[in-house]
Amino acid sequence: VYHTPEEVPSDCLPGCAAVIDVLRASSTIAAAIDAGAEAVRVFRDIEPLLEASEGIEEDKRIRAGERGGQKVEACEFGNSPLAFTPENTEGRQLFLSTTNGTRCSESVCNASNVIMASLTNRQAVVNYLATKRPGTVWLVGSGWQGSYSLEDTVCAGAVIDGILIAEKTPLAELTGNDEAIAAVALFRQWQDQLPELLMSASHGQRLLKMRGQADVAYCAQLDVLDTLPIQRGIGTFVQRKP
Ligand code: MLT
Repeated sequence: VYHTPEEVPSDCLPGCAAVIDVLRASSTIAAAIDAGAEAVRVFRDIEPLLEASEGIEEDKRIRAGERGGQKVEACEFGNSPLAFTPENTEGRQLFLSTTNGTRCSESVCNASNVIMASLTNRQAVVNYLATKRPGTVWLVGSGWQGSYSLEDTVCAGAVIDGILIAEKTPLAELTGNDEAIAAVALFRQWQDQLPELLMSASHGQRLLKMRGQADVAYCAQLDVLDTLPIQRGIGTFVQRKP
């Protein structure tokens, strides 16, 4: 478990990297794929996003940009998972750049497999990791501008807890992996009060002030999407086919 992309050692790339940005990029990417997006292309910066989307017909693309939790002027959408519906997303390519989540994705883009993990698609992530068994799994929280994020850690704990249950493995098996044990303990303490935990997290508080409860409440839902965004080509995520 890494709490920010900066913690990820450059040689960690074999195995599977799960990018976690519960508030809100990985929740948004799962929501957009679930709403029928053909692909989600993530960008560190806005300029390359605008250039790459320039050649796509307007009715075949959505440009979504967020900085500091607010929508970027040059994009039609911000980074709310609630904005993506089958009516406005089906069959389109989503071009997305956010403050931390899409940058986190770029930091692990050369791993053997890269998936998007959030609370909403936690079980789909567990099912993939428990069956695919990709060797080392790196759960990488996006954090906030290089600092720790409570919601990303509780999501990492939820994923590990799901795998421990699926494999009938006791928590003690994780001996020595302090970050993983702490993440599972956090999830087991709060699994029945995830909205409360996210509302009290620093980025949850930021979003509450800016946008009200809807986004935070949506992102706090556990196991509501059977969607697994997986990287097919650097920076391009699609629904993993079973
Ligand atoms: C992030 O990239 O850190 C988040 O997605 C920011 C946000 O949109 O709330």
